[in-house]
Amino acid sequence: MLAGKVITIGVTGGIAAYKAAWLVSNLAGLEAEVHVMMTRSAKAFVSPLTFQVLSGHPVRTGLFTAGEDAPIPHVEMAARSDLLVIVPATANIIGKVAGGIADDLLSTTIMAATCPVLFCPAMNVNMYRNPVVQRNLAMLRELGYHLAEPEVGRLACGTEGRGRLPEPEIILEQIKDILSRAGDLSGMTVLVTAGPTREPLDPVRYITNRSSGKMGYAVARAASRRGARVILVSGAVGLEPPPGIKLIPVETARQMFDVVMEQFPTVDMVVKSAAVADYRPKEMAVQKIKKNENNLILELEKNPDILFELGRRKGRQLLVGFAAETGDVEENALSKVRHKNLDLLVANDVTLPGAGFGADTNIATLVYPDGTVIPLPKMDKLSLAHRILDEVLTLRRARNIL
Ligand code: CTP
Repeated sequence: MLAGKVITIGVTGGIAAYKAAWLVSNLAGLEAEVHVMMTRSAKAFVSPLTFQVLSGHPVRTGLFTAGEDAPIPHVEMAARSDLLVIVPATANIIGKVAGGIADDLLSTTIMAATCPVLFCPAMNVNMYRNPVVQRNLAMLRELGYHLAEPEVGRLACGTEGRGRLPEPEIILEQIKDILSRAGDLSGMTVLVTAGPTREPLDPVRYITNRSSGKMGYAVARAASRRGARVILVSGAVGLEPPPGIKLIPVETARQMFDVVMEQFPTVDMVVKSAAVADYRPKEMAVQKIKKNENNLILELEKNPDILFELGRRKGRQLLVGFAAETGDVEENALSKVRHKNLDLLVANDVTLPGAGFGADTNIATLVYPDGTVIPLPKMDKLSLAHRILDEVLTLRRARNIL
């Protein structure tokens, strides 16, 4: 699958630069067309000649170096590449990209790239833990760059901790994953719902829940990156919408119901990660409710179940639901997936550490109507989003919808 793919490797100045040599050699062995760019500091660690021999192509090092072939190398390489891999990625290049700085060949190439970009950070544990670096990494994630998480282990400086470049075999697997997913949803429309709903009590108060919207936004981002047209119907959250998607903000369950039903006939799949309030106050007070009484009794009435209604109406669309459970996860999930006529239910036990509301990671179990149950390990929400989309694509292929 790598044959003929143009992969540009950006090597920056860290001791792990030698591992990039293994990667280049293996990618070239798998018949990818590999080009290497090195920053000035990278040349202090590995000779450009090493990469030139391993890749079979001249190594580019400068923006304006006379004698190098392309007149505008950063634009040309950015346009030609199917993937850019920054390995190792120092705190410096991470900070430059997060800050919008483009002052050398590699940073300008990243700035000009429209293909996926994978950063493989490697540095001393204290540098990695530095809040500035963490903020910059979060920014890169937010902007849609891929990250290979560094591993815990012995570092070149003699200390132990997180900051080690993952083994090149692991980076190679991630490269294959990214390339196999690139564009595999093109031509499809994906409707994603995210975040909580707010059910008003009076003009200043509402009932809501703990949903952060992170999971739904990760699905929207992943689907968009894979070429889908994405409609994101979102309750109130404090997240930046991923670039290039259509955002429809809503507040209440009934508003979400109306928007989703209107969009449904035009979409190929729905991923319903919103935490919809099952009940709403029966009446919304026109004036602010005053604290006159010692007890206040609120009467609630049922909201429509959006997902159930989609299950009732669905034709060729595939439906993915979510279930936040606090016990008997499999049993509850299996009855939900069947009752709501879903194709897949992503269940998670929100009482586990590292799962559910507000967290950046999730521990999910995939549940299918035929009773298949696949427990997944803890993973970040973007990886889970990709995994869910992989599953839906497999279902589409199995049903010959593609
Ligand atoms: N959902 C929905 N409309 C609702 C309630 C839930 O579309 N009024 C969707 C959610 O977006 C989610 C799925 O249904 O994808 C599961 O929600 P959950 O609250 O776990 O399930 P319920 O069927 O409401 O069951 P319960 O609250 O009793 O666990």
